[in-house]
Amino acid sequence: MINLFTPLKIKGLTLKNRVVLPPLVRFSMVEKDGFVTEGLLEWYKDVAEGEVGMIIVEASCISEDGKLRENQIGIWDDKFIDGLKKIADIGKKYSVPTIIQIHHAGYKEGIATVQEEVLDELLEKFVKAFKRAKVAGFDGIEIHGAHTYLISQLNSRIWNLRDDKYGGSFEKRMYFSEELIKRTKDLFDDKFILGYRMGGNEPDLEDGIEIAKYLQKIGVDVLHVSSGVPDPERKSPVKIDYPETFPLDWVVYMGTEIKKYVTIPVIGVKNIKLEEQASWLVENELLDLVAVGRGMIARPNWVKHAKKEYEKRTGKKVD
Ligand SMILES: Cc1cc2nc3c(=O)[nH]c(=O)nc-3n(C[C@H](O)[C@H](O)[C@H](O)COP(=O)(O)O)c2cc1C
Repeated sequence: MINLFTPLKIKGLTLKNRVVLPPLVRFSMVEKDGFVTEGLLEWYKDVAEGEVGMIIVEASCISEDGKLRENQIGIWDDKFIDGLKKIADIGKKYSVPTIIQIHHAGYKEGIATVQEEVLDELLEKFVKAFKRAKVAGFDGIEIHGAHTYLISQLNSRIWNLRDDKYGGSFEKRMYFSEELIKRTKDLFDDKFILGYRMGGNEPDLEDGIEIAKYLQKIGVDVLHVSSGVPDPERKSPVKIDYPETFPLDWVVYMGTEIKKYVTIPVIGVKNIKLEEQASWLVENELLDLVAVGRGMIARPNWVKHAKKEYEKRTGKKVD
């Protein structure tokens, strides 16, 4: 039987358990120039040492004008590669597959009025960022396609009101993502994986399911289901209906639903704090992997601790 500590293979990479560090921007640990700092390295070392199954390094920005805040790590220039390599090296030292999230914050006013040439340029910047991630020695990348940032805005039916090659039909809303994957497909060999963090509600779960199936078809290796867009006024998140009997967060529920429609591994996330919650999701094969964000900030050795909790709770020994 599968449990939280059962290894999982994604292409040529072996994750030693089912717990993932989701991307967490650590603004206070990054300088305004976007370079990796000693403090940040210390954080990733603590998490790797804590026996996590996979690290997804925080959102790194493909262009200076696409940052969330000044102190977000950059990947828009070769000058960042040396610092990023130090994070990738930590993953290697502790045998923790480590991929990096690639991000552009998008546009506050929405995606509808952005000129086509600007999007053409951003697409090329994403391509270059993927290449830098590989040169830096990461085991893959995760496209940030959630949380109403650039790619989420493009993928979303209620945000993307364009009628050019970047929008107008489902396929066109996916064009940016698909073209990016096509242009970089030679990078993704057996040892370099393609992750995609998507909105499960884009705006509805039905849209999320359609997006997930499409992403699998165009070559994504692992899906990470988080939340998608809020309503166009950005007042409130578009929350889906979910059964009252589901004991965890509605975002986790979306991951478990999407898993039913794809065969690639699915990561679920949101408010998973306890070993027992994580174990329930994995043992019942509701998710392949669980991400623990704030829980890991509170306890970077979350997995080591979870092993003890599991042994105490079940009386079974973890190898
Ligand atoms: C401090 C902080 C930074 C975050 N940074 C990112 C990020 O860089 N990229 C991203 O996709 N999500 C980011 N998120 C969202 C988390 O990855 C995660 O989805 C969220 O915290 C819910 O999981 P949790 O309840 O286990 O913390 C961030 C969340 C927090 C609290």
